[in-house]
Amino acid sequence: MSMSEEIDSGRRDLLTYATIGAGVVASGAAVWPMIDQMNPSADVLSLSVLRVDVSGVEVGTQLTVKWRGKPVFIRRRTEADIALGRSIALNELVDPVARNANIARTADAADGNRTIDAAGEWLVMMGVCTHLGCVPLGDAGDFGGWFCPCHGSHYDSAGRIRKGPAPENLPVPVSKFVDDTTIQLGENV
Ligand code: FES
Repeated sequence: MSMSEEIDSGRRDLLTYATIGAGVVASGAAVWPMIDQMNPSADVLSLSVLRVDVSGVEVGTQLTVKWRGKPVFIRRRTEADIALGRSIALNELVDPVARNANIARTADAADGNRTIDAAGEWLVMMGVCTHLGCVPLGDAGDFGGWFCPCHGSHYDSAGRIRKGPAPENLPVPVSKFVDDTTIQLGENV
């Protein structure tokens, strides 16, 4: 794995760059504790930014990177994924809230409120089950998305909880394209 870190202590700014080669592939039912005592302090967390080169991510595949100690799924959705997500009525959803840090807290969980691009191709979300913190498996489950094998939670192609004990959709972190092929997680300050 090749990942370089650039720390500018003068600006108290932590920038981490990841390439496709640095992708950390989540495996099985690894548990990511909801409270991690090893996490850096809050002020460091608030400044950490990860830039991910997604130029090699093919349609229908997922890159998993580690950010702030947790896995983040970056999924390039197929036309079928998008159509499936958009076909679901809001009243079919367990959690009607978008859980997207890039838009209003009250925004609904329509498919278009889950992706970071208007076309709906790019879905970025924390790869941590909202039940008890396992890492869900991709391309699995009953709803064309992810499946958490720990206690059987099914997420759809937009990462929304559809069945099982998980109470909320997989959260979309602060994220955006900073150029045509780079997604940034977290904010620069
Ligand atoms: S941790 Fe995922 S279903 Fe319990």
